[in-house]
Amino acid sequence: MSGSLVIAGLGPGAEALVTPEVSAALAEATDVVGYVPYVERVAPRPGLVRHGSDNREEIRRAEHALQMATDGHRVVVVSSGDPGVFAMAAALFEAVEQGDAAWRDLDIRVLPGVSAMLAASARAGAPLGHDFCCINLSDNLKPWSLIEKRLRLAAEADFAMAFYNPRSKSRPEGFVRTLEILRQSCEPERLIVFARAVSTPDEHIRVTTLAEATPEMADMRTLVIVGSSQTRRIERDGAALVYTPRSVS
Ligand SMILES: C[S@@+](CC[C@H](N)C(=O)[O-])C[C@H]1O[C@@H](n2cnc3c(N)ncnc32)[C@H](O)[C@@H]1O
Repeated sequence: MSGSLVIAGLGPGAEALVTPEVSAALAEATDVVGYVPYVERVAPRPGLVRHGSDNREEIRRAEHALQMATDGHRVVVVSSGDPGVFAMAAALFEAVEQGDAAWRDLDIRVLPGVSAMLAASARAGAPLGHDFCCINLSDNLKPWSLIEKRLRLAAEADFAMAFYNPRSKSRPEGFVRTLEILRQSCEPERLIVFARAVSTPDEHIRVTTLAEATPEMADMRTLVIVGSSQTRRIERDGAALVYTPRSVS
């Protein structure tokens, strides 16, 4: 039997945001592999084995998935959001590049998903409507000095910015420092969106300014969007609309 390997994005949480292509791949899978909470989003069924593992085991998880596909299994590796955004697709290709030569001959496909920044942006309005960048604020896989450099240059270039992994219990200081750096070059009225647990029952969207933002507004389930100098807010009954115009004059 010839195996296959699909790397799929489950979207930000809601079932309605899982693409039909990803649902079809999961329906045909013999094995689902990923971080425990993501694997648990796939309903159990006869003929499907779910392999949940710890968050810090990306390369070992990738090697396990590649070996099962080599042995003839139809394997789906799942990530939240999009698998190519701070997630398993790159880890898998790292394992392919460094591992068994036979892995290069496998049938491997990446299926996109709705990334957290897109879901968060849609909830707030259109803050990413002009040029933007996204930065992972975790220093688990890169030095903090590089994060600071990228923050400064992104602010100087007047990008809107989307921040993944803004703050965790083991890294409480990073987001404090992030706000300090932004305050050095952005005006106090700069708009910030804190979008927590988007598309889940715990969803909470808060729109504030750089002057009023506090580190406690973010946690590991939050996607933070900092507007550019052009980003504005339309007040109306109900939630305000935040958008960045399409053009800069
Ligand atoms: C390891 S990254 C994975 C990103 C994922 N691959 C994606 O494309 O959305 C995890 C971070 O994504 C963000 N995130 C994921 N799901 C989210 C959601 N439903 N609401 C807000 N932020 C989310 C948070 O910043 C979280 O710390």
